[in-house]
Amino acid sequence: MTGLGDLPEHPDATVDVAEAFGFASRLSVPAFSVRDDHVPEVDDAYVFDPDVTLAVLSGFARNRRVLVQGFHGTGKTTHVEQVAARLNWPCVRVNLDGHVTRMDLVGRDAVVVRDDHQVTEFREGILPWALQRPCALVFDEYDAGRPDVMFVINRVLERDGRFTLLDQNRVLDPHPSFRLFATANTVGLGDLTGLYRGTQLLNHAQVDRWNVVTRLDYLAPDVEASIVLGRVPELAARADGADVVDRMVAVANLTRAGFAAGDLSTVMSPRTVISWAENLEVFEDVARAFRLSFLNKCDDAERSLVAELFQRAFDVELDDSIAHADPDDGAGSGSSGGRADG
Ligand SMILES: Nc1ncnc2c1ncn2[C@@H]1O[C@H](COP(=O)(O)OP(=O)(O)O)[C@@H](O)[C@H]1O
Ligand SMILES: [Mg+2]
Repeated sequence: MTGLGDLPEHPDATVDVAEAFGFASRLSVPAFSVRDDHVPEVDDAYVFDPDVTLAVLSGFARNRRVLVQGFHGTGKTTHVEQVAARLNWPCVRVNLDGHVTRMDLVGRDAVVVRDDHQVTEFREGILPWALQRPCALVFDEYDAGRPDVMFVINRVLERDGRFTLLDQNRVLDPHPSFRLFATANTVGLGDLTGLYRGTQLLNHAQVDRWNVVTRLDYLAPDVEASIVLGRVPELAARADGADVVDRMVAVANLTRAGFAAGDLSTVMSPRTVISWAENLEVFEDVARAFRLSFLNKCDDAERSLVAELFQRAFDVELDDSIAHADPDDGAGSGSSGGRADG
């Protein structure tokens, strides 16, 4: 029993990798013939990175535990989700960003009323729930998990993946089609950039338990531009759309270079480039959209440098009101540490 309606217990179909993911490959991988509610929506505009996609596919096809690591907003989470979407594999995500407790994961006793009597009943958490189903569980921000939560996760990462519900005296065997993935900004060596506050040091044993570790870095500019255009079709339809997006990606890459050189503490993620493009549709002015999507996230002291990067890529002067802090925006926290712009 999966409790998932008509979903078969085991993969009952195969997917041709070249066809489904758009890069040369002779592999085909197991998949499900039916979709249930937990299968992520297919994003037709999604561009698969061959390396990362093959790593994620090894997770699905061969039950490898796969950790995807890389800068924020580079597509780690969505790579796993979009692979799942194409395999019709149910997929649930847990963000470990510090609020998730051991009880959220494992379950807790809850008081319920049954036949007019109050009884205490165990409500299983997301981990035992997923473990017993054909389901991919993704631990997002794995390097931000609290120690008690990591302890629980490590037990499922053990070789046989069995999981004991201590208070319940029950041992759960994972379903043969249960899969486990994680995403992280660091590889558990701590954060040398200062960008990722709240990440924990992972000990060797914690990293060792993952069978496959893959890295997703910033994309080539033309690939990033095609992703943005795919996301914002209104912009792609404009005659100058491709040119504007190329320049936006150029600004993003200048912030990344500035960050690497130690001149900037905020980098523009692909996610921000996408929201800049979306905001451009709303505000109809590339500079204004730039201020609202990115510039306002930057430290006051760095704004003129960031404005310069914009000018360099777009070959226009930024309006003073845009280049400098606008008190109404409530921006400029004045913090000195690095910052991820989400
Ligand atoms: N390869 C890609 N193709 C299409 N969209 C992408 C791609 N990579 C990232 N995106 C988009 O960028 C945003 C951030 O992706 P996400 O997976 O949440 O990043 P991460 O988990 O690395 O922080 C999402 O809106 C996603 O749809
Ligand atoms: Mg993510």
